[in-house]
Amino acid sequence: MPIVVVVGGQWGDEGKGRIVDLLARKARVVARYSAGNNAGHTIVNERGEFKLHLVPAGIFYPEKTCVIGNGVAVDPEVLLGEIGSLQDKGIDTSRLVISDRASVIMPWHRLIDQLDEQLRGDAAIGTTGKGVGPCFVDKVARRGIRIGDLLRADDLAPRIKSALDYQNRVITGVYGAEPIDAGGCCERYLEYGQRLAPFVADVQALVLDAHRRGEYVLLEGAQGSLLDLDHGTYPYVTSSVPSSSSSGAALGVGIGPTDIQRVVGVFKSYCTRVGNGPFPTELFDETAGRLRDHGKEYGRGEYGTTTGRPRRIGWLDAVAARYSVRFNGLSAVALTRLDVLDEMPSIKICTAYELDGEIIEALPARQSVLERVRPVYEELPGWMTPTTDVRNFDDLPPQAQAFIRRVEDLLECPVDLISVGPAREQAVIVNPIF
Ligand code: GDP
Ligand code: IMO
Ligand code: MG
Repeated sequence: MPIVVVVGGQWGDEGKGRIVDLLARKARVVARYSAGNNAGHTIVNERGEFKLHLVPAGIFYPEKTCVIGNGVAVDPEVLLGEIGSLQDKGIDTSRLVISDRASVIMPWHRLIDQLDEQLRGDAAIGTTGKGVGPCFVDKVARRGIRIGDLLRADDLAPRIKSALDYQNRVITGVYGAEPIDAGGCCERYLEYGQRLAPFVADVQALVLDAHRRGEYVLLEGAQGSLLDLDHGTYPYVTSSVPSSSSSGAALGVGIGPTDIQRVVGVFKSYCTRVGNGPFPTELFDETAGRLRDHGKEYGRGEYGTTTGRPRRIGWLDAVAARYSVRFNGLSAVALTRLDVLDEMPSIKICTAYELDGEIIEALPARQSVLERVRPVYEELPGWMTPTTDVRNFDDLPPQAQAFIRRVEDLLECPVDLISVGPAREQAVIVNPIF
């Protein structure tokens, strides 16, 4: 049975949580493999509406094992809070498993995230401020603290001491801020370790054993591929190691690339971005406001799940999306929020860029160039009919069908799943993913 990766195809918030919640029905294991609580995944199902930052979106099914892989940066306080609030709502969290190799976000990571953004000034990345980037910097610098270190004072105390000796020099010397007081830090994180200990297990064995028993495994990506450290709009990207794109999935749970059979890319029917950085199809007019505030009265407008920031809005960028299809090796596209276009009299898709009078069809690597490109649009008629109750492709308005077919052509990838609303059942399954 396949191991399937679900990955964001744009700049995040494409509806990955919603798609994982739908696909998890058939899976035995659902695993997060990258990033941290910079992610915010919304799930709307018969239990209510939930915003998950670390716990995988499979947690609402009673019999699934939900895994936080070695590739994830875990803020123990946030994770324990999330477990607690799920339990308060009657969700069983006993099937949660955490890798002892996962990285830990420490107080200095949150502080440095904020100080570093201040230092960058006008060139700030616009991070979520959760300490995720600095945590991965320490992982790569071999100065990180891992979940396994929280389980024993003998391991934790010297690691905290040497990390803080270094970080306080950075905090005072580079950023000119007050040093962090280590007092109580070790005890507090040991206590988190004790509370998380029942969840800690060998994630690699768990994933591979399920696979070998013939059960489905779903690997849940965070962020979007255009925020990828290597392939995204650098330097306005996220710092996850492993990457949140499909290449990071195997690494982030400890399996090999040949164990993965399918990769599903989630794309919105238009584009959004939070934080700074180039966004060729960004809109500043009344259309942006209409798309952003669709569903706002139900708390479902385009406002960040993690930070509440208004999301920047633009038309679908097929140049960037096709690039994302290619470097993720996508087998299928899941197209979300089609219903948000229901009241648009016409819909644009960016099919190429214009750069200094020339037409280009590839995403430039350099930020200074990407900031200068102008979108070349194709305009399609809208359908001006509600799609939220449609469940079969043939029942979609012809203009919506034409839009989807054009997306497939431009992205060079089949659209196997269409989402027409936030709730689990509001989907059109064109070809079953598994
Ligand atoms: P994620 O980070 O990729 O999981 O996405 P977010 O949860 O941050 O943002 C996606 C938003 O779109 C959430 O509010 C979802 O409930 C909502 N959503 C997902 N799919 C659809 C859809 O097809 N239609 C509508 N109207 N909302 C959707
Ligand atoms: P989900 O999983 C949207 C963005 C931030 C910022 C950049 C770097 O919900 O799709 P970071 O805090 O990671 O150092 O910020 O990345 N970003 C996201 N944008 N959705 C996310 O996650 C994001 N995670 C990070 O806004 O631009
Ligand atoms: Mg999100």
